[in-house]
This record gives sequence, structure tokens and C-alpha cells, in this order.
Amino acid sequence: MANQEIERRRTFAIIAHPDAGKTSLTEKLLLFGGQIQVAGAVKSNKIKKTATSDWMDIEKQRGISVTTSVMEFDYQGYKINILDTPGHQDFAEDTYRTLTAVDSVIIVVDGAKGVETQTRKLMEVCRMRSTPVIIFVNKMDREAKDPFDLLDELEAELAIHVRPLTWPIESGLRFKGVYNIYEENLNLFQPSKQVVTEKVRVDIHTEELERHIGAPLAEKLRDDLELIAGVYPEFSTEEYLQGALAPVFFGSALNNFGVEELLNCFVKIAPSPRPVKAEERTVLPEEPKFTGFVFKITANIDPNHRSCIAFCKVCSGKFTRNTPYLHVRQGKTLRFSSPAQFMAQRKTTVEEAWAGDIIGLPDNGIFKIGDTLTEGEQLHFRGLPSFSPELFKYIENADPMKQKQLAKGIDQLMDEGVAQLFINEFNGRKLIGTVGQLQFEVIQYRLENEYSAKCRWEPANLYKACWIESGDEEELAAFKKRKYQFMARDREGREVFLADSGYVLQMAQMDFKHIKFHFSSEF
Ligand code: G4P
Repeated sequence: MANQEIERRRTFAIIAHPDAGKTSLTEKLLLFGGQIQVAGAVKSNKIKKTATSDWMDIEKQRGISVTTSVMEFDYQGYKINILDTPGHQDFAEDTYRTLTAVDSVIIVVDGAKGVETQTRKLMEVCRMRSTPVIIFVNKMDREAKDPFDLLDELEAELAIHVRPLTWPIESGLRFKGVYNIYEENLNLFQPSKQVVTEKVRVDIHTEELERHIGAPLAEKLRDDLELIAGVYPEFSTEEYLQGALAPVFFGSALNNFGVEELLNCFVKIAPSPRPVKAEERTVLPEEPKFTGFVFKITANIDPNHRSCIAFCKVCSGKFTRNTPYLHVRQGKTLRFSSPAQFMAQRKTTVEEAWAGDIIGLPDNGIFKIGDTLTEGEQLHFRGLPSFSPELFKYIENADPMKQKQLAKGIDQLMDEGVAQLFINEFNGRKLIGTVGQLQFEVIQYRLENEYSAKCRWEPANLYKACWIESGDEEELAAFKKRKYQFMARDREGREVFLADSGYVLQMAQMDFKHIKFHFSSEF
């Protein structure tokens, strides 16, 4: 029983550069899962560019992202868990963390734009964890790049082997459809935004193909397929599961075209929950005892109560409501009477959850990103390393009467993983590092609204935070002495060098050859 429940689970995230079509694809998958009946029901959790200065709007939009954080549905006997990721790149760190809780990902790429910055960064995280990826090339109903060029670009930019499993016939106004290479049939393009389209199935080895798409395109398709067979090796599920090979699908999410092919293949080849590494040992999903870890904490929508939802990925066994579990970091036993499960826009109380599932636990400040829950075992799941932030600012107290509230607020927001905190060792000042300007604004807003604390930002012109290590104690001491104004510690107490420019960092690397400068906290 247990194994079947676990084996039918597919827990994944859709990642993309903003505007590539993540929301549209998610919505179409939910249509197939019967979770929604019409398109347009899934709200984008994008923080619209025009609304960056409207705080209530950000709050509202964050609210939306709480309910769409996990979307679950059944499809062909499989249980699908889609983990949503923020649409705005200023919150990319949230996406990195979500990737620690998935067993595979689908990458959406805009067929006209190809690989964009955000996709490249997210792929790096997938590569670090050998996460299996499937690529969906979207917007083929618009003028797109040549599919062979796109495949080359995907391979070069994402550093992964690719293998097309469907193939487009033209794009834009001339877009005729996609050929399903693994099922050997053709689906002709019939745009429909609202419903799951009926397909026209054509055997391409017959004259029928010419009748549908004309002789020149028929010939081209047959040539293309021959070339694909010659250039790309057979698709190997094994290699895909190792994260070395990505199958590629073409289509149009908006028109629900090519999505069913993607989904049908996905449920077949995507992995069920995979073993998870803890510091002490590797935990297998089919182990009978429950273990899980918190990978995301989402702030409350109601500003009057500071209660968040901590999202916990079940790594092994079965989670049951109202059962005592050990919160390992705090050494406390907790019972959860209202764990939540998410179905499209609805949130319901869950009685039990299996490895692969995500449960939402009410959190009034007890959880930190990376916390482990078990049936009593001392286990610590490894999270994702922190990456060097891109932007830095000193945070100062703007209301002397609220010193304590500010300290508490900063502490809890950092526990939630909103940004990174460093303490400058020279002057004791608190430095906040983020990946986007919007995060500073959210921090300031939340400190005021949830903690009644006021903060002020002061500029810190820094380039990177580098975690340093060296086998040469003497050289390390000399370095720290020379750079004493730029030495800081992260929240775990690890030593960090704050480089103020790329040039300074380069010089430091040349002068101190035995010191390693890392851009992430795990090395
Ligand atoms: P995101 O979540 O990755 O940011 O992308 P989203 O799905 O919101 O799509 C971004 C824009 O691209 C949307 O247009 C959407 O309609 C459009 N789009 C998505 N898939 C396709 C496709 O297959 N073909 C075409 N032609 N367009 C597609 P928008 O104007 O920003 O928003 P909306 O007004 O349509 O909602």
C-alpha cells in the first residue's frame, strides 16, 4: 500500500524566465487534472511591473501565491504535486529553495527568445542536485527560432544533452502542429484557449500527411525527423533520471497545444519521490517512519495575526494529522491539528500525507527554513546552500523605542528566508543581502506592519559576499587583518568576505593564493 502511494506521486516545479509561459502551462495542466474547468482560473502570482510601489498590491499578490503554492491533482492514476515558484525574479531565492523539495522540473522556454538569464540560473541549481528536467518550448504559435538552433542553444546554454520527443511544423502564422516522435503521430494545430482540444491523428508515412500540410512541409518534416534520428541518440529514461539528458517538447501553452504530449510523457518518465540526503544518512521514501523538512515559509495574508504557513515536504513514510512529531532543532514534540493540503485555489485539512506530498503547517514563528520533523530520530536534512546576494544594504533602526521589535522582526524574517543577514565584524552593523530591490521594500513594509518596527536603509556598495576557507591558517589570519573592515559573519557564524568590487576580489585571489573564495555557503 505504502509503496504504491509513493510510487504514483510526481512532485515537481515549473521554472521559467518571467513571461515564458509558466502560468499558462500550469493552468493547462490543471485543466487536464480536472481541477479547473475553464482557463483563466489560475491567477498569475507575478508582481506586475506597474505595481512595484503599491504595497497593498504586493500583499494581495503574495496572498494569492499562498493558495497557489502547491497544486495537487490526480491524472491517469498518478498524484501530481506542482510546486509554484514566484513569478518575479526579485524572489528568485524562494525558487531556489522550492527546488530542494521537488523530484523533477519542467523548464519552459519562449520559442522566440530561447534561453534567458533566469532559466540559466535555475538550471544551475538543478544541476547541483542532478534534478531531472523536461523542457517545453512554448509560444510556437508565434514566430520562433529554428527548432534545430533552439536545441543547440538549449544544449550549450543549459549544459545538458537534449532529445526532442515532439517536433514542430513551422511556427507563427504558419504553425501547423507538432509531430509526436515517441508515439509516431501528428497533431494538427487547432487553437483553443478554453478547452482540451480534440486531436487529428495522422500517420506521417502515408499520403495523408501531404493532404494535411502540403507536399513541401511533408517532405521537410520527414527530412527533419531523419536528421533528428541521425544526430540525437535514442532517448534514455535512465540518463534523464540522472539529470544528464532533457527531453524536449514543443507547443503553445496558451492554446493548450502540445501540452497533453508533455503531460503523458511526464507522468511516465518523471521520478517518484527520490531518496533525500540528511547529514546523518540517506532517507528512502519507502521507509515506514515519517520524516520531512520545511523548505518554504509563507507570510500571512492577515496582518493582524502573525501566523505563517510552513511548507513541509514529506521525505519518507506517512504523515498523520494529530500525531506527535519531533521538531529536531528545537527538541520539541509537536502535534498538528490542522495541516493543510492544497487543491488549485482551495485549502483543505489533510488527514494523512505520503512521501512526495507537501503539507502546509500553521507556523507562529516555530519554524525556520530547513527544519526537520521526524518520529523521534535525530535527523538533519540538508538544505540548499546560500548564494551570494546581488544587492546589499545596511539596516538601521529608525525608531529608538522599537529596538527589540526590530531585532525580532529581522530575526524572524531571516528565518523565513526573506533575505540574508550578515554582521560586519568590524563595526557590528547588520547588513541585509538580497537578489532584488523589491525584497528590501517588502522587508521594510513587513517590519512596520507585522512588528511595528521602523527601519532605514543605508547604502553599502558591495559586489559579492564570499564564504572563505583556507588550509593555511597564517595566510588566512593575514588576509583577515588586511581586510578587517570587510569581514562579516553569516547567520550560521561562517566567515564571509565582503568584496566591494570585482577588481578587489580578483586582487585578493591573486595575493592570497591559498584562500578559496566561494560564492555559495556550501563547498
Ligand atoms: P509566466 O507565468 O511565465 O510569467 O508567463 P505567463 O503564462 O503569464 O505568460 C506570459 C505572457 O505570454 C502572457 O501574455 C500569456 O498570455 C502569453 N503566452 C503564454 N503562452 C503563450 C503561447 O503559447 N502563445 C502565445 N502567443 N502567448 C503565450 P500577457 O499579455 O502578458 O498576459 P495576458 O494578458 O495574456 O494574461
